[in-house]
Amino acid sequence: MSKIRKAVFPVAGLGTRFLPATKAMPKEMLTVVDRPLIQHVVDEAHEAGIEHFVFVTGRNKAVIEDHFDKQFELEATLRDRGKTTALAELEKDLPAAGQTSFTRQQEPLGLGHAVWCARELVGNEPFALILPDMLMRSTPGCLKQMVEARDAIGGGNFVAVEEVDPANVGSYGIVGVGRDHGPAFEITRMVEKPAPADAPSNLMISGRYILEPEIFDILDNQERGAGNEIQVTDAMIKLMRDRPFYGFRFGGETYDCGSKVGFLSANVAFALDRPEIEPEFREILKGLLAR
Ligand code: UTP
Repeated sequence: MSKIRKAVFPVAGLGTRFLPATKAMPKEMLTVVDRPLIQHVVDEAHEAGIEHFVFVTGRNKAVIEDHFDKQFELEATLRDRGKTTALAELEKDLPAAGQTSFTRQQEPLGLGHAVWCARELVGNEPFALILPDMLMRSTPGCLKQMVEARDAIGGGNFVAVEEVDPANVGSYGIVGVGRDHGPAFEITRMVEKPAPADAPSNLMISGRYILEPEIFDILDNQERGAGNEIQVTDAMIKLMRDRPFYGFRFGGETYDCGSKVGFLSANVAFALDRPEIEPEFREILKGLLAR
């Protein structure tokens, strides 16, 4: 069973739910406390043993590439001013030379299409797919837990799932629950945005995947689905006919940072995790809530 060495980060979407913030700035550069979303998920991938980070970008997304580069002027200034801690932090976050690749999705035709754009960079090996706007909070991170589940089961395709209010299943990809395999369960079916009466469960696909490279063969011919977009769920449904799929119940918290409430909640939760911010911030929150 080959190791998961590569992760794909689709970052070419338009972020229309977050306009006007995302008019000139990529959604993935919005900050949760003081780190851009994309840095949070790269950290998660790094912790899971990922060695190569593949970004599928689009127009107006060059700043993401810059974020993972050296900033010589800034670093020289920090050095001159003796700001060694800030300098060390920047260096720690930087992937090693050659560990990143950037490709372009010229048109945002959907998540499935964005994944397909990474096919040459991923090649013939299983890979992780991480949606950067879904921020997962847990120790260890979600992807590391999934990689360990895959190691225990001995391979296959994995998606992280979590419970949603049964009334809201129509907004998500929903899975059917089959046999238990210890850290994960076999998925019997997947349905994209089902009517509540047709939903096989209330477990939604939440933004972390481990996929076998055969998904690219399916995406070669994948037609547009829901929202007139090429959907990765549609391709996974086809791949499920031949290959095992497992659901990993993520026990931490997930914040959909593509939505305003999710993003604001993530900022509060992650700020309260930071000892240097927490006491003052908690008092301010208490005051605001008492208003
Ligand atoms: P979303 O649907 O949450 O992002 O896709 P979006 O389309 O940018 O946002 P809204 O709905 O218009 O507000 C999840 C992830 O997939 C990427 C997005 O950048 C986001 O990180 N994506 C989506 C692509 O890379 N290409 C696409 O065609 C669609």
